[in-house]
Amino acid sequence: MEGAVLPPFHTTAEYWHENVQAYISSHSLDHSTYTDLRDAVISRLPAAALDGPGSIGLTRTDLISTLSTWRSKSTSRKINYLEIGCAGGENFTPMSESPIIDIAHCVDPDPKSVSTHKMTSSNFFKTNIQNYDIIFVDGLHQWSTALSDIASSLLTLSPEGVIIVHDSNPRTSSAASPTVPNFEVDKVAWNGDVYKAIVELGSNPNVDVATGYFDEGCAVVIDRPRSKERLLVPREGAAEVLSYEVFDRNRKEFLNLLDWEELMYWIEGEAQPVKI
Ligand SMILES: C[S@@+](CC[C@H](N)C(=O)[O-])C[C@H]1O[C@@H](n2cnc3c(N)ncnc32)[C@H](O)[C@@H]1O
Repeated sequence: MEGAVLPPFHTTAEYWHENVQAYISSHSLDHSTYTDLRDAVISRLPAAALDGPGSIGLTRTDLISTLSTWRSKSTSRKINYLEIGCAGGENFTPMSESPIIDIAHCVDPDPKSVSTHKMTSSNFFKTNIQNYDIIFVDGLHQWSTALSDIASSLLTLSPEGVIIVHDSNPRTSSAASPTVPNFEVDKVAWNGDVYKAIVELGSNPNVDVATGYFDEGCAVVIDRPRSKERLLVPREGAAEVLSYEVFDRNRKEFLNLLDWEELMYWIEGEAQPVKI
């Protein structure tokens, strides 16, 4: 990165949110310099430091556990959990061991994964007849597959169930690449373009979508009419043509990006003003 002088290194989220943002605006950096500077700082920060101010350090497992507990309490029974893509089980294993879970299934074709169903999500949904209360979509990180996984999950969800979609808030254009990286060669964090699936869903008035501002972006999809409070409604077909740059400028609105507390209000149907 040439031209911009990096501020001194620090590891706290406060540093990013206050000092780096202030540095960027006080120096009136153009967009490409801003992106270079931000990527350089991001590469030196721990992941949690880029969470929203009210969500620092929270994880997908915190969200999935919280929603599972709510669901179990509201139905007075144990619940059924499905994860699409579980890899080594960092999230799936603790979920499957939770005392409030009855059925825990995971679909992942990787023979080394801890999945209960060694197949792709599309093959799984062709024959599945089980309903689930909570579905965590974290399989192939390409928008058309993510969108198809969400659509199939909506048909598979028990009444008032909830879908959570990981990796919907990529931090950099390289993390948002639509091409699957060679993980052996490129030691990169890859969110893919799952964000496009979330933007596309935002154009559908029949579903409600918001994204938790933590752990790479945890979108929540609920089968109910879209909340009226959305500041900006993406247009249908947006995913097909959306560039990372346009997404980056509008991510708060496109993803309906909410901090933890705002997300909890929104899930309960009591939308609060966006504070981020
Ligand atoms: C990011 S990892 C999942 C991480 C895990 N959910 C967690 O929270 O720790 C993505 C997984 O999706 C799996 N995957 C890739 N394509 C898939 C597909 N078409 N259907 C289901 N799983 C898929 C990969 O094998 C990989 O293990």
